Amino acid sequence: MEDLLQKIEGYKNSISAYGVHTTEALEDFRIKYLGTKGIVKAAMGEMKNVPNEKKKEFGKVLNAFKIFAEERYEELKGSLASGENKTTSSIDWSLPGDPIPVGTRHPLSIVRNQIVSIYKRLGFAVAEGPEIEDDWHNFTALNLSENHPARDMQDTFYLNQNPDYLLRTHTSSVQARVMEKQKPPIRIICPGRVYRNETISARAHCFFHQVEGLYVDNNVSFADLKQTLYFFVQEMFGKEVKVRFRPSYFPFTEPSAEMDISCTVCGGKGCSLCKHTGWVEILGCGMVHPKMLENFKIDPDEFTGFAFGMGIERICQLKYRINDLRLYSQNDIRFLRQFTGSV
Ligand code: DAH
Repeated sequence: MEDLLQKIEGYKNSISAYGVHTTEALEDFRIKYLGTKGIVKAAMGEMKNVPNEKKKEFGKVLNAFKIFAEERYEELKGSLASGENKTTSSIDWSLPGDPIPVGTRHPLSIVRNQIVSIYKRLGFAVAEGPEIEDDWHNFTALNLSENHPARDMQDTFYLNQNPDYLLRTHTSSVQARVMEKQKPPIRIICPGRVYRNETISARAHCFFHQVEGLYVDNNVSFADLKQTLYFFVQEMFGKEVKVRFRPSYFPFTEPSAEMDISCTVCGGKGCSLCKHTGWVEILGCGMVHPKMLENFKIDPDEFTGFAFGMGIERICQLKYRINDLRLYSQNDIRFLRQFTGSV
């Protein structure tokens, strides 16, 4: 037993003499003395060899030893935190830190944010809807009844478990969701991902991104639509870019149009991007069909509206000349690193 007492005295001396300059050294101290396989635990383990009549006395000694080591640990920790001993530390505090690589935003996010910021300045709020959508919001409410031929234009992914649900084929579904909840005036845009069952190639993908716009109020006219989109194009691509509208067909708008802008690559002279026409289509649009307003109990005699839907990949292609849709989702760091938009 005398042995043990002596050993403890020895340990106490070492503990008092212990100094730490780094957190690693502090941790070494903790493991050596206070860890589960440390000296204090081991000394406690000796209790079982102590004769019964001496147990009380030894218990006290061991307890005091434990407290002694714990207090010294706290003391060392405190001195480290307060910066004592730092001058003698092996760490050179004047060295520059390790560089932390900063990521870049995805080009689609940059362009989406730019689009959102332009429309926000015109008073449009951002609305969102689910990507797994029901047939009603994606088709029927938008005037595409069950056997409407225009449903074929969009190859739809239906859910195996329940074919009443699908992956939305366009962000127009959010128009339906907003009109369901909100009454005019409505002025929203909806950026989001959409899905179509297309074979993946440079020009088609099974998912891509759109921004939908919807404005419903008293006296909203086609002239308002043209002016809004014209403003957008000038902000996005510059004042020299021209626009033109061509008549088109969408079940949810009447009249409907598609809008082209003069090719931003060749300036309208003709190149491979604009297929030598000088024009590139960027969106579909039109006046909200009265039937659609009625679907949501909005009186078409009192209110009119316009809507539009544009593809973000296309705008991105024109801005950055990205000619292969697959690049957006291949996660190639050499591609992604090139975009340094700040928004
Ligand atoms: N949803 C259409 C598409 O995916 C785009 C579109 C056309 C949206 C006309 C509209 C619109 O809101 O009015 O091709």
